[in-house]
Amino acid sequence: MCGIVGYIGYREACPVVVNGLKRLEYRGYDSAGISLLNTDAGIYKCKGKVSDLEKVIEGNPVSGNMGMGHTRWATHGEPNDMNAHPHSSFKGHFIAVHNGIIENYGKLKKRLKEEGYDFKSETDTEVLVNLIEYIYLKWEVEAETAVRLALTKVEGAYGLVVMCTDENDKMIAARKSSPLVIGIGEREYFIASDATPLVEYTKNVVFLNDDDVAIVSRDEFTLKTIENDRLDPEIHELDLEVGDIDKNGYDHFMLKEIFEQSRSIHDTFRGRITPEMDGIRLGGLYHALPSLVKAKRIIIISCGTSWHAGLVGEYLLEDMARIPVEVEYASEFRYRNPVLYKDDIVIAISQSGETADTLAAIKLAKESGATVLGICNVVGSSISRETHGGVYTHAGPEIGVASTKAFTAQVTVLAMMSLLLGRERNVIEDTEYVSLIKELREIPGKIETILSLNDEFKRFAGLYKDALNFLYLGRGYCFPVALEGALKLKEISYIHAEGYPAAEMKHGPIALIDENMPVVVLSPKNGSYDKIVSNIQEIKARKGIVIAVVNEGDNVIKEMADHVLEIPKTRELFSALLTVVPLQLLSYHIAVMRDCNVDQPRNLAKAVTVE
Ligand code: M6R
Repeated sequence: MCGIVGYIGYREACPVVVNGLKRLEYRGYDSAGISLLNTDAGIYKCKGKVSDLEKVIEGNPVSGNMGMGHTRWATHGEPNDMNAHPHSSFKGHFIAVHNGIIENYGKLKKRLKEEGYDFKSETDTEVLVNLIEYIYLKWEVEAETAVRLALTKVEGAYGLVVMCTDENDKMIAARKSSPLVIGIGEREYFIASDATPLVEYTKNVVFLNDDDVAIVSRDEFTLKTIENDRLDPEIHELDLEVGDIDKNGYDHFMLKEIFEQSRSIHDTFRGRITPEMDGIRLGGLYHALPSLVKAKRIIIISCGTSWHAGLVGEYLLEDMARIPVEVEYASEFRYRNPVLYKDDIVIAISQSGETADTLAAIKLAKESGATVLGICNVVGSSISRETHGGVYTHAGPEIGVASTKAFTAQVTVLAMMSLLLGRERNVIEDTEYVSLIKELREIPGKIETILSLNDEFKRFAGLYKDALNFLYLGRGYCFPVALEGALKLKEISYIHAEGYPAAEMKHGPIALIDENMPVVVLSPKNGSYDKIVSNIQEIKARKGIVIAVVNEGDNVIKEMADHVLEIPKTRELFSALLTVVPLQLLSYHIAVMRDCNVDQPRNLAKAVTVE
């Protein structure tokens, strides 16, 4: 939640910060603000998007070579001008932007009020910046020391950037459970919540760790612990191009990302399948492999779309490797006193690698001694660094808030892991193993075929864009896809939708079916095909509208359904990778036709870094 950008160097800071905020807007977009440490240390902020902020600063003297900005997803205090960041301290010595939650802000606010401090906003950030100022003035310390001491008094999470009006040659950044990256240029430094705003200026970055404090001036960058011990920064080279974070001619990031899926899946298995297609290598699992092979149980933890990928993973790992798998919402797992054993393998799945609930669940699992692995998209993210090993999905930056290519990349990784473990555990025969790898390699081409039918999906979207409800049904591997299809529709088009295992329909949801209810039935030709055919008949008998996702040439369902969306055939094990694509496109077109903000749906943010 929330995007932070800071700049110090020789350029005009305003365009660097504003452009950076636009890159980070997917993280939160209910208000935005900027402050440059020029002579008047002005703060410009407003409710709304970065484009609204641009109107506010138009014609104002926002000039200077050092500044910071923020795009917000509200936690404390409604989205309005006053609660927008940056926040200045009561006596004007400090300005701060902050991502995260200061949990003990109430107690701190009370203490500060007793000391005569007054507050303009309802935010926890204003409490933090006032606490810094209070310590700075009372103990007459440097700004950096005041920040470090203040942070020892707060409970909660922060990605924080602070400027001191008395020390206008440096910025201070600190991190705890909320990401910050420092970009290193030539006599200039950048600070951001993730690397996307930095890539057009530098490829050299340092990812801050929890409890790190960075003091950044034009010529120097110092890294310390919160206790004032010097640290050696580890410089990483970004594997990211500007083109990866642009729309490249597409109307929306979501559409671009849907269309990228044949390439992104290719990138997911690039270098991991032997040229002879007789082996899978997942370097990040090297150390954990012996424990994985012996595992008596795997627990998958994740949220949202990543949780749906986890459900597909359960089926894949149980089918191919015969290891029992449990899939848990990270938010439930972390609070429900789960039974964990030292020999459990916990796999955390996360596109962003920053989801607060998933991170907390990882910490809990580690405390119990379990081996924790990650499947993450964002390289260098908190989850990838917090886990004992893992596999990057390499899907490239996903900017649309609705997750699409991350899902197919996660499922691809889970398929490769299952194949690898199935082979290592001698569960899969050699010929079957090779044949499955070959089929997995065919998936990108088959996705291309589905994408070529985009106009047809758009036409169906036009027919149902005004529906009030949708039902999505699937069996086996298509059940998690039904959940994912429903999530995609509701989050971007605001149409109520539910996903169900098709057989559960008769235990309740069937009561919803009438002539106004579109039911998307995932019906590829697989082991439960006949059962799905019966389910379609049950829906038709109650006058429901059936939109069936079928394999090419399926004339049986064509006869029964109102519409069919045809996709190529694949092995049942990999069917989630294909059946999900028409559902992504259907949701996308419906949302566009309903005039919804597809890339930035209301109330949402890309990375949920608060619980
Ligand atoms: O970054 P993560 O994969 O951990 O995010 C998990 C969910 O917040 C995410 O999948 C969310 O549900 C998406 N908006 C779904 O499209």
